Amino acid sequence: MELRLIERDISKLKGDALVVGAYEHGFTDMAKAVDKQMGRLLSALARDLAFKAKLSDTIYIPSHGKTLKVKNVILVGLGKKGKLDEDAVRKAASSSLKKVKEIKAKDICFEALGEDVLKEKGVKALAEGILLSSYEFRKYKKDKEKVHIKSASILADKSTEKQLSLGKILGEATNFTRDIVNEPGNAITPNELARIAKEISRKYGFECTVYGLKELRKNKMNGILAVGQGSKNPPKFIHIGYKPERIKKRLVIIGKGITFDSGGLNIKTQRSMKTMKCDKSGACAVLGIMKAIGELKPDVEVHGLIPTAENMPGGEAFRPDDIITFANGKSVEIHSTDAEGRLILADALIYGSKLRPNIMIDMATLTGACVVALGNYTTGLFCNDDNLARDLLNVSIRTGEKIWRLPLDEDLKDEIKGSYSDIKNIGSRYGGAITAGLFLKEFVNKDVKSWAHLDIAGPAFLEKSWKYYAEGATGVPLRTIIEFVLSIS
Ligand code: BES
Ligand code: ZN
Ligand code: ZN
Repeated sequence: MELRLIERDISKLKGDALVVGAYEHGFTDMAKAVDKQMGRLLSALARDLAFKAKLSDTIYIPSHGKTLKVKNVILVGLGKKGKLDEDAVRKAASSSLKKVKEIKAKDICFEALGEDVLKEKGVKALAEGILLSSYEFRKYKKDKEKVHIKSASILADKSTEKQLSLGKILGEATNFTRDIVNEPGNAITPNELARIAKEISRKYGFECTVYGLKELRKNKMNGILAVGQGSKNPPKFIHIGYKPERIKKRLVIIGKGITFDSGGLNIKTQRSMKTMKCDKSGACAVLGIMKAIGELKPDVEVHGLIPTAENMPGGEAFRPDDIITFANGKSVEIHSTDAEGRLILADALIYGSKLRPNIMIDMATLTGACVVALGNYTTGLFCNDDNLARDLLNVSIRTGEKIWRLPLDEDLKDEIKGSYSDIKNIGSRYGGAITAGLFLKEFVNKDVKSWAHLDIAGPAFLEKSWKYYAEGATGVPLRTIIEFVLSIS
C-alpha cells in the first residue's frame, strides 16, 4: 500500500473515501469544514444515528461526488480529547479501515487524526495504525494478490514527513516480522531463518555469521545442539552485527527461534501444539528489528542473536534425565524437553555477554505460565536493572505493546536446583514464568549490568483478532525495542 502526505485542502481531495474525526465534545476542525461543505449532512446523520464519538465508533455517508470530489466520508470517534494517546489513534485508524473495506474504497484520505493533541507523533501513530490494521497473511490463499486498499493519503504539513517515515518503517518492519512468524514449520526451518538473516544483512551492510553443527560444537553451544538433535532440520546460531560510526551504547538483542515446538519427547497435547509455529516469534522480531535498524541507522551498536532449532521427538531426540554442560561451566539436568527455549537462550546469553553490551534484551515465547499470569495481551518483563525496566515500561505505554514487570524472586531459586547437576530446566507449576527467568539469569554474565527478559508467549500470536491486529502474529515487541533504541541513540 502507498502511504503519503498530501496538502490540507479538502476542496482538492479526490479518491473513494475521506476519514475525519470527532471527539466526544465535538467535531475536529476538518470534520466541521467537511460538514459545512456537505450542507450539514454529516452532523445531521451523526445526530440521527446518536453517534457519540466514542473511540473507534464510525459512521459513513456517501457524498456522490457532488458536494465534495471524494466519494464517501467516514466519521470516526476519537473519544475524549484529554484521553487521546498514540494507541487511540492506531485504534481509530483500524476501525476506519474496517468501514473503508465495507464500502470497498480503495484510495482513501485521512485527516491527521490526533495531530491536534500529539503533534507529529499523531501522524506517526496514524501511519502505524493504517499499516498494522491492513495486514493480512494471504500468501497461501488462491486470491493472495487481493488487496483492499491501494493508497492512503494523510492530510498533514510537510514538517511531519520524518514522523510519517518513522511510522512507515515501524509498521513495515512489524508486518515483515508477522509474515515470517505466520509461515508454518514446514516453510521456516532454522536454515531458512539464517537465509533471511543473510539477505537482510546483505541489503543493509551488516556483518552476519551463521554457526552450523561444526561451529556450535566448537563453541560448546550445547543447549542449541541438544534441542535440535531430534530434528532432520539442523539447528543454527545466527549473529547479525550493526556497527555505526558513532557509538553511544552497545545493545545485544536475542530472540528465541524454535521453528516448531512439538514439546520433544515430553510431547505436547493436540490443543497446545496447534499454534507452536509461533515459537520463533522472538527470532522473527530480531529480524524485523535489524531491518528497521538498517533503515534508521541509529548511533547504537546493535547485535541481533538468534539461537534456532526445531524441537522434535524421535530416535535422536534429547531426553528427560539428560545432563547438558554449558560453555560457562554450568550443568543442567533435563526434567522436561518442552522447556527447551531456556536451553537455546542460555547459549545465546553466554555468547551475548561476551560482546560486553551495555544492555542485553532477550525476547521469547517462553512460558504458558506467563500467559496464565498476565493474559493473552501482556508481555512479562524480568529485569536486573530498575532504570532499564522503567524505560522499557515507559516506551511500551506509547507503543501500546503492553508490558508488566514480574519479579526475579530469589526465594524461588531452590526450585531449579539440580539433584545430579547444578540446575534443572524446570521448577514447579507455581511461578513458572519466574523460574524460567531465574534460569536465564544463570547464563547472564555478572558484568552485564542491564539485562531484560521479555516473555511474549501471550501477545506474540493471537488466536483471535484484537485491537488493530488480525489473528496470528503481532510482531510484538518490535516497535517497543526500536523506540527504545531511538530513545538511547
Ligand atoms: N513454547 C512454549 C511456551 C508457550 C506457551 C509459547 C504458549 C506460546 C504459547 C515453551 O517452550 C513451553 O513449552 N513451556 C512449557 C514449560 C514447562 C514445561 C515448564 C510450558 O509453558 O508449559
Ligand atoms: Zn516447549
Ligand atoms: Zn517453546
